[in-house]
Amino acid sequence: MSAVGAPLPHDSALAHCTGAARFADDLPEPPGLLHAALVLSPVAHGTLGAVAAPPGVMMLTAADIPGANDISPSGKGDEPLFATGTIRHHGQPIAMVLAETRDAALRAAAAVRAEIAPLPPLLDLDEAIERRSFLMPPQTIARGDAAAAILAAPMTAAGEFRAGGQEHFYLESQIALAVPGEDGEIAITSSTQHPTEVQHIAGRVLGLDYNRIPVACRRMGGAFGGKESNASWVAAAAALGARITGRPVKLRLPRKADMAATGKRHPFLYRWRAGCDGTGRILALEATLAADGGHSLDLTPGVVFRSLTHALNCYDVPAVRLTGLALRTNSVSHTAFRGFGGPQGVLLMEDVIRGVARATGLSPEAVRERNFAGAPNDAATPYGQALEGDLIRRAWAECRADAGLEARRAEIAAFNAAHPFLRRGLGSFALAFGISFGIRHLNQAGALVHVYTDGSIRLNHGGTEMGQGLNVKVAQVVAESFGVPLDRVRITATSTAEVPNTAPTAASTGSDLNGWAAHNAALAVRGRMAEVAAALWGVPAEDIAFAEGRVLVARPGDNRAMSFADLAHKCWIERVSLSATGFYRTPDIHWDPAAMKGEPFFYFSYGASFAEVVVDTLTGEHRVLRADLVQDCGRSLNPAIDRGQIEGAFVQGQGWLTCEELFWDEQGRQRTLGPSTYKIPGSRDAPPDFRVRLLAAAPARQATIFRSKAVGEPPLMLATAVWNALIDATGVARLDLPATPERVLLALRAKGS
Ligand code: MTE
Ligand code: HPA
Ligand code: MOS
Repeated sequence: MSAVGAPLPHDSALAHCTGAARFADDLPEPPGLLHAALVLSPVAHGTLGAVAAPPGVMMLTAADIPGANDISPSGKGDEPLFATGTIRHHGQPIAMVLAETRDAALRAAAAVRAEIAPLPPLLDLDEAIERRSFLMPPQTIARGDAAAAILAAPMTAAGEFRAGGQEHFYLESQIALAVPGEDGEIAITSSTQHPTEVQHIAGRVLGLDYNRIPVACRRMGGAFGGKESNASWVAAAAALGARITGRPVKLRLPRKADMAATGKRHPFLYRWRAGCDGTGRILALEATLAADGGHSLDLTPGVVFRSLTHALNCYDVPAVRLTGLALRTNSVSHTAFRGFGGPQGVLLMEDVIRGVARATGLSPEAVRERNFAGAPNDAATPYGQALEGDLIRRAWAECRADAGLEARRAEIAAFNAAHPFLRRGLGSFALAFGISFGIRHLNQAGALVHVYTDGSIRLNHGGTEMGQGLNVKVAQVVAESFGVPLDRVRITATSTAEVPNTAPTAASTGSDLNGWAAHNAALAVRGRMAEVAAALWGVPAEDIAFAEGRVLVARPGDNRAMSFADLAHKCWIERVSLSATGFYRTPDIHWDPAAMKGEPFFYFSYGASFAEVVVDTLTGEHRVLRADLVQDCGRSLNPAIDRGQIEGAFVQGQGWLTCEELFWDEQGRQRTLGPSTYKIPGSRDAPPDFRVRLLAAAPARQATIFRSKAVGEPPLMLATAVWNALIDATGVARLDLPATPERVLLALRAKGS
């Protein structure tokens, strides 16, 4: 059986279930280990005075940093490791204490006293907009004269709504272990999506060359974007402790500290007006998408960029003006979270579609179909990149058929007529999600492949494993490249010492980038091996084939063959290298930031969904009864893994849109710092009738690895159908997110029912 395309289990499935999989905190602790704990600000804004530790406590502050007190991913210096002068958010790290045990460290941290003269915090997005508290200049994507086209349109609609943030709630909180070695070297084990940035930021904070800071990560216990930039400062803090004490230091954030001190999904505020005609065709749209970036830039420019490039989603609007604002507030700095601004971006058109449906009396489904990008509408986005209109329509049509739209509408109407308090509703959604990093230089990857003389293979690549199944996919690619069974390929920990200068594993590009890099490495070794076999058998190297663990002459009537292992051994005898690096950079992508035009994505991943809910109008509670999803995965590398990603992402999206509510009090203190106050969805929130399908016969048209497509983030957005279903069930005009029972009740009251 061919390795690529097989529904193989996650390489650590059994180890995850039995507890044998080792996460950073499971590694044997090195002798002399010190445990670290952070001292976090109890106020959101203020002036920092003296910081005092009880006698005998070893405390590090900004004054102890030998390099730069700068953990900003941009290197712009707008985010310190430890606060100095001004406190900018509740939960901001002020100092770190070190102790022999973790409990002692936590107790000592709690006993540290920081003098802070409080200042009024800026918390509210509207107020931040009014005060023009921007983290960066507004970004605008525009085509045509939207304002004039709205004035000229036969009908208009307008809206305003909000979407909340989201806590990553990875099960393994942020952790790093730093071990000092010879000559000032500090080896870091980090639960990170971005080992190279851990290396860079630790280097910056310590004033050390990168070559002295090897960083490794075998796996994360979940990340979801929360370990793209935030893992770096946690690791830098541990490295600082190791540098100063000369002893190994482990920093593992308790859940409460993790939730207080690390960034979340950006909350957004939306305002829009649109013009349409009586057929539901949207002619023009003006919208502002305002993101709460928190106190520093972090990755906010990229998040706003993605929200803008996804604000029209898979729809065409001829005249548009989309403005993205990044607001600075006294909140923790918001960061990457599955979808990276895409989920926030695609919400906009949902509100527009509902507004146009109300104005015209059409169904939201009819308005969708009327406005899909691609013939007869324009296929290009306002920034100039073409969408594949046929794939949008195929995913949609297949999902609509799966969902049985017309029959279900009739059933739901009958149910609602028979129930005084319960209301069922059906909602839909369609998606085009761009794949590639918005930052061009991040679209590169490296890999290292060794073949040993017994024919076993060791694979290392720049991607990190966070549960998404990247390692098994890349191993499948390598097994396929060598024509060997998957169990010949050994998956190893990500390490900056083996594959340097990597991008984060993010933007769903892990298997695209690292799959290609590993394929290129494997092809380099295979080419040399083929030449050895060709010389042995006196045939051209092109006639050597690798399949089913064997190497053979692929010519009719020629039966010469040997095992892959025999050839590997032969290569060694012939003094031929069995090791190679592989490299890949995504072709064709480009962006002009001045014009806000270009083709920033290598391709788009498409999808569609329907969800049915039942709402209790007395309590505002709901359940998702059924979901039908169609997700484009190209020619899937591994349909079992992809299905898991689709189901998990959908439920995580449900959480963001319905039950996960972050709460800051009027003084800017985060009050949702644990599972008792912050509700993530549980297994019983997943739709009991959950129909997931990969779009069939849809190999990527672009030269992706084996024509597969990314899957990590896109299906999170398919949960948007739940929002539409809740609005359909309740008949309310506006339902801010997350649509908690309280919000549903308030919306019902506003509607006067
Ligand atoms: N799946 C699991 N189990 N755990 C995770 O942390 N992160 C998601 C997604 N799926 C995540 C996950 C996010 S935010 C991204 S960008 C992708 O995985 C990254 O991995 P990939 O590029 O290999 O798909
Ligand atoms: N997605 C996720 N992380 C990123 C991106 C992106 O598009 N750009 C930079 N970091
Ligand atoms: Mo994912 S938000 O790109 O780490």
